Amino acid sequence: MFNWAKYLKRSDLIQTGLLIDGVWINNPDTFRVINPVNDELLANIAIATNEDLDNSVKSSKDAFLIWSKKSALERSRLIRKLYELIIENIDDLALILTIEQGKPLSEAKNEVLYSASFFEWFSEEARRAYGDVIPANNINQRSSVIKQAIGVCAAITPWNFPSAMLGRKLAPALAAGCTMIAKPASMTPLSANALGVLALEAGIPAACFNIIHGHSGKIGEFLCHNQDIRKLTFTGSTEVGVWLYQNSANTMKKLSLELGGNAPLIVFDDANLDLAIDGIIASKFRNSGQTCVCANRILVHKKIKNILIDKLLDKVSQLQLGDGRDSHVSLGPLINDDAVMHVNSLVADAIDHGANLICGGKVAANIGKRFFEPTIIDCPNTKNRLFKEEIFAPVLPIYTFTTDEEAVAMANNTEYGLASYIFTQSNARIYRVSEDLEFGMVGVNTGSISAENVPFGGIKMSGLGREGGKTGINEYLVEKYICTQI
Ligand code: SIN
Repeated sequence: MFNWAKYLKRSDLIQTGLLIDGVWINNPDTFRVINPVNDELLANIAIATNEDLDNSVKSSKDAFLIWSKKSALERSRLIRKLYELIIENIDDLALILTIEQGKPLSEAKNEVLYSASFFEWFSEEARRAYGDVIPANNINQRSSVIKQAIGVCAAITPWNFPSAMLGRKLAPALAAGCTMIAKPASMTPLSANALGVLALEAGIPAACFNIIHGHSGKIGEFLCHNQDIRKLTFTGSTEVGVWLYQNSANTMKKLSLELGGNAPLIVFDDANLDLAIDGIIASKFRNSGQTCVCANRILVHKKIKNILIDKLLDKVSQLQLGDGRDSHVSLGPLINDDAVMHVNSLVADAIDHGANLICGGKVAANIGKRFFEPTIIDCPNTKNRLFKEEIFAPVLPIYTFTTDEEAVAMANNTEYGLASYIFTQSNARIYRVSEDLEFGMVGVNTGSISAENVPFGGIKMSGLGREGGKTGINEYLVEKYICTQI
């Protein structure tokens, strides 16, 4: 078993239980968490029983009655305190994240800062849940709309950003006056538990933030069907998002979904190429390509394809694979063996469809079985699976176009609608192409946008609701119309 105490300033940040009503519950039934770098056992995490699940909702409901009645200022101060504690413990939190997830320490630190930024931001937003005064159509009536916390919320969070995605959901929920039950991904539960320790320390009352662990299918079903849970927020695959959507129908829950992506990144022939190269590298290779908003397909104007590939090759050859704890490392491992199998089959399929491997294309076995080499593939057509599927690995497929219309048609030729990117120096093109792209977000001359305000859930133009980012407090509030006879 990994010796956490040897590396952390605060070994109490490592908790292996469920957090229910302010108490860590360590059940005998557990699952294993391993370091994806070397399979070392990191922790045995408690599995929630049916009774634990019921208690998590019951306590969260009781806590809601207290938390939602606190003044916005009081909630704001406690959320701000949590922000400060996250910053104070950033080194430990980043290390926990790197060890359970695999991303380089510098990226892990950025993720913890990103997570903290939600608590900082929403400690302010807590005070700004303004309502409306509406002219009544009867002179003897007065009308207003107030915003109230929606109730007990549940969050299912992913393994690729175990700290930031939880922060993005928890901070606006608490600010609005909601309580939250979180189900972190089973591969990366330790970052969430560390946040649970700090939330209690910050003085956030017990059961305002409960954490449950266990079998995803069983817990997902429980959360969807529970009438007392009024909102469910999820970041993860489209397949699971659809399932949650279907299963939440009977209880008419509010949903926020941030689902899969197949982002096009279009480089027009008037682009600032150095900017485009930096954008592509940042977007594609962050978290070893395991990011739902990352560039999945590079579409480049035919005229500049060769020069783009040369410049990319130069940058990619400088990327270093390895254990994220080493400061020279820029790419960690893939999360598990299934991820490796998936990317191997995508690369093989592309080669079968005539693609030309420029670099990489295989596991760097000398480093470890999950370290996939940063890969560039020149694709002569769009028939391969790389064009259609979310890659979730450091593989960069390049496709060419000759007209703007062709680029937009290729970009839109996907069922996904999360993110897209364009590189051009023409203002007219920025407006025209951004409006024509059927994605919830367009990054213009940047390769890094975050899904925090995603309006389309990741499914093309489906309008499933914002994910709950910096504008997301409204996702955790309901509007009540009050009409007074005077
Ligand atoms: C994700 O990949 O799940 C989202 C990343 C982000 O919004 O920064």
